[in-house]
Order: sequence, then C-alpha cells, then structure tokens
Amino acid sequence: MSHYTYNPINSSIVDELKSIVGAKFVIFGEPEKIEPYSHDEIAEKHYAHMPEAVVKPRTAEEISKIMKLANRENVPVTPRGAGSGLSGGAVPLHGGISLSLERMNEILEIDKENLVVVVEPGVVTNEINDKLKADGLFFAGYPMSVESCFVGGNVAENAGGGRAVKYGVTERYIIGLEVVTPQGDIIHLGGKLSKNVVGYDFIKLMVGSEGTLGIFTKIYIKLLPLPTEKIDLLVMFKDVESAIRIVPTIMTMGHIIPTSIEFMDKLSFQTSYKYLNEHLPHEDAGAMLLIEIDGNNIEQLEKEYETIGELCLQNDAIDVFVADNTTTQERVWKVRRNIAEAFKVYSPVQSLEDIVVPVASIPKILPEIEKLADKYDVVIPCYGHAGDGNLHATIVKKPEMSIEKWNELLPTILHDLYEKTVACGGTISGEHGIGHKRKEFIGQALEPATIELMRRVKLAFDPKNILNPGKIFNID
Ligand code: LAC
Ligand code: ZN
Repeated sequence: MSHYTYNPINSSIVDELKSIVGAKFVIFGEPEKIEPYSHDEIAEKHYAHMPEAVVKPRTAEEISKIMKLANRENVPVTPRGAGSGLSGGAVPLHGGISLSLERMNEILEIDKENLVVVVEPGVVTNEINDKLKADGLFFAGYPMSVESCFVGGNVAENAGGGRAVKYGVTERYIIGLEVVTPQGDIIHLGGKLSKNVVGYDFIKLMVGSEGTLGIFTKIYIKLLPLPTEKIDLLVMFKDVESAIRIVPTIMTMGHIIPTSIEFMDKLSFQTSYKYLNEHLPHEDAGAMLLIEIDGNNIEQLEKEYETIGELCLQNDAIDVFVADNTTTQERVWKVRRNIAEAFKVYSPVQSLEDIVVPVASIPKILPEIEKLADKYDVVIPCYGHAGDGNLHATIVKKPEMSIEKWNELLPTILHDLYEKTVACGGTISGEHGIGHKRKEFIGQALEPATIELMRRVKLAFDPKNILNPGKIFNID
C-alpha cells in the first residue's frame, strides 16, 4: 500500500477546474464520455482505470493553475496525449484528473534558418512532416502509430519506431522544452540550440519520463533536410533464423547503415495482410525483412541495395523485391505499421512486448523466445525493429487455454522472457516504456541503487506524488 493517499474530486474542485479551462472542457459525472480516457492501446482491459474527471486545458498557464490546485487538494493528475501508448503511461491509476492535451495542437513555428520546429504537445506526429515537406525538411521520428499519436506522447515515452537504425530515437531531436512542473511552475529548458551543457541535462531527463516529471507545453524539435531518394527492399526468407541472421551482417559486412531494418515473422505479416485485405508475393514465406535506405544520390542507393540484396540472397533469402515508388513503399510499410493493431483484433488476449538486445544478439534471443512458447504452451509471434535489436515478441493465449490459467501464467512468462533478454545484455523495454504494465519487473532491469536514485528524483520534482502516480517504480 502506498502511503500517498489522494482525495476524491468534489464539486468545488470541479467548479474551480471549470473556471480555469472553461466549463465545456471539463468532463465530470458522465462515465461513458470519461471511459475513452481510462485506457491506452493495451488490448487487455484490466490495465485500465477510470479518471474522475477529464480536463482539457489550452495553455501552459491553465495547466500551471491545475497543478497548483491538484497539489493543494491532493488530487492526482495523469497527462494524456492520443492514448496510443502500450504500457499504461496515460492510464489514471489513482483516478483523479486525466489531463488531455488534445486542444494544444498547434505547430507554432517553422524556423527554416535554424532547422527547428516548435510545436504544442497535441500535434499528431504525421502532421509535422506533412507540413515540413514543402520546405524539404523533416523530423526523423517515425513511431508506427505516426498517423494517430501526439508528439507530446512521443517525447514522454521517448518513442523509437522504424527509422532509428540510422536516425536514432526521439531524444536525439528534442532540443528545447517548455514544461509545467508537478508543482505548477512553468520552466524553460534549452531552446533552438544544438549544443547546451548548462547544468544537468533536464531535457534528456524529461524525454522518456512517461508523464511523471512534467507536462510539456512547447517542444523544440531539431529538423533534418529531407532526403530526396528512398528505396525499400522487401526480402522473403524461408525461416525466421535466416532472416534474423542477416541483420547485423548488413551493417558489419555490407558497411551500410540502412534507415530501417524491420522484421516480421510469418504469423505477423499474415495477420496484418488479413486485417488490411492485402496480398503480397510469397505469402507462405517463413519471415520477411523490410529494409529501407535513403539519401540524395540515387546511384549510391542503387549500389547499396544491390549489396544488401546480394547479402540476403547469399544467406538463404527466397526473393528480394525493390519498392522504389511511393505507392508500393506505402503499401509495404502499411503492412508493417498495422501488425500491432491486427493482433489486437485477432488475438486480444495477449501481451505485446518490446524487449531490446544488442543488435548482434538478435540471433541468440529468438530461439529462447521459441523455447518459452513451447514451455508455456502459448504462441509468441515476433516482429519489430530488428536493426535496433528491438523485438515485439507478442505473447498470445491459445484458444484452448483458460483465461484463469493465462492470468496465472503471464507474469511467469514475462519474468522468464525478461530474464533471457537481460542475460543477452538487453533490457525489458526498448520503446513502449514501463508505465504500470512492467512496473513489477523493473528490478530485473535496474539495480536497487539506481531505482532508489530515480525515486528520489521523482520526489524532488513531485514531493506529493501528484503527477501520474503509480508508474515506472513504486515510490514506497
Ligand atoms: C510497432 C509498435 C508496436 O513497432 O511499437 O508496431
Ligand atoms: Zn515498435
């Protein structure tokens, strides 16, 4: 039991919230309107929890007032973007206020001279690049939920995604933040600077803090020139092993760092095909790699994709398809982007994982996952960002297993999966975060002294444990 206890939201708190943001932007006492704010994209319902009120501020000043009120009244606040998370980060575990950033959805400034875009947290990530295209610029973040997620959530979770092999993850591009602290101060970190070493790096601390240390109200994103050329290779393999074996080789032997190296096993791509009503050649292949390369010199890219294609064919690839026009490229990426959603529809009793190992250990971890599936009599399809060593092992209940048995077994399966991952030099989450889904397992990834330091950092920012309580690690 936590010794942080919270007060329920009473009618005078509701009135005060209404006077801060406007009556229209407070939902209270209407469960069916509140329900969508009780969960994220995790398929299993027991990870959900209802907030007592949903509040939709428009400005940093309003958020500051809400946080001061929450501290005074001892009411928990859980920030929320688009709710596309996969670890329960936006779930208001202790009730209280769900603070939705959906109205803070403006692209504030495109600074072409400094290659920086300044956005509010509720902008849909895809819209940033749509808007920047005309200027030949782009933000290199590419989470698979890019069409629906909010950039604020990408920052809060330090989203990874499909382009990290070459471009890294969200944190590389976040150079400034305006943040409302848990106690209601509005602070400014960094700005349009490419270098900045003044004091501790609170920007890096904020990125990936899963909504526990502050609420972002302005985000400064470093941009890159948009590459003019891009080629995708779709490579079919007879089995998972041969597909995975080639992944580190592309970089070490091919001397090429592709933009993306995505992996899909048979069950993963077939489930997505079914969901999208899509058909691509070699539907009965055992596994597939989707490899993207980009740049400004088409001859160079052609050389690179030939090298990659040859390496794949020397390593038991069945076939290599080249997608060099945007229509085909979008088709193949759509298959990849929709796997999680497809599994959610066809196998809703599941646990979607995002383990990560050093890329050279990718061939080592897969057989371990297969052994786990046999041992516990579950199905574990795998797909993901193989070029980053980041795999979405999805533990799926077989129809014949009872739900009681599944609920009893799942923690053990997860424990074993994480143990094998850590033994390979990896960790338990590469991109979805800990949230409350993996909180009980954090001790498998971090030492007690590290967790204790994190706990003290959290309490330095948030002495009353008001902001997103119950996430990442236990406070007491
Ligand atoms: C993906 C999400 C699940 O890579 O992270 O599809
Ligand atoms: Zn992913």
